[in-house]
Amino acid sequence: MPTIQSLLKNNRAWAQAVSAEDPSFFQRLSAQQSPGYLWIGCADSRVPSTQLTGLLPGEMFVHRNVANVVVHADLNCLSVIQYAVEVLKVEHIIVCGHYGCGGVEAALRDSQFGLIDNWLRHVQDVHNKHRAFIEAAGDFAAQSARLSELNVIEQAVNVCQTTIVRQAWERGQQLTVNGLIYGLNDGLLRDLQMRVDSAKGLAAQFKQAMDNLGQTK
Ligand code: CO
Repeated sequence: MPTIQSLLKNNRAWAQAVSAEDPSFFQRLSAQQSPGYLWIGCADSRVPSTQLTGLLPGEMFVHRNVANVVVHADLNCLSVIQYAVEVLKVEHIIVCGHYGCGGVEAALRDSQFGLIDNWLRHVQDVHNKHRAFIEAAGDFAAQSARLSELNVIEQAVNVCQTTIVRQAWERGQQLTVNGLIYGLNDGLLRDLQMRVDSAKGLAAQFKQAMDNLGQTK
């Protein structure tokens, strides 16, 4: 098990390396942040948002929770979205799920882990909505993959339906909501063809993403 001391040592080495490359990097960043993206992803330690997209500190605003769920009454997630959209004016919100997600698989199995079952109820709602399509995927691994993909699409819909995003679009603010999924076994992001940049475009983009799943699986 690594110690906190080893993290501090790693941190000193990292800060030195970044400063060696760009001596004013930290000074510049400490004055302001202007990220272009908001990432809403799973808390899984194997899905490090900025690392896997090759972004530097300052380039991505990040919210992560178990199974990348966007709930209309979750003040934490809504506050992150509001700050990102209204203050930082990000141009893209990315909802990113991943294959082999423990939260998604617990929801699929209807496993009981205590408090978190209430949170994963939202993923079970996605399961219930698309039950036949998920069962048609095949064995457990295939069903888990399909539920992970559908969960991204449905949570991206939830982002689009927040008052924050709807009002941004009404103001004419440039903002696109995207759905991606990450493969733990190859380190690659896949585009789920969910790319919504207006309230009126939501239904067509949802259909496109669903058709895309049907075609590729
Ligand atoms: Co996960």
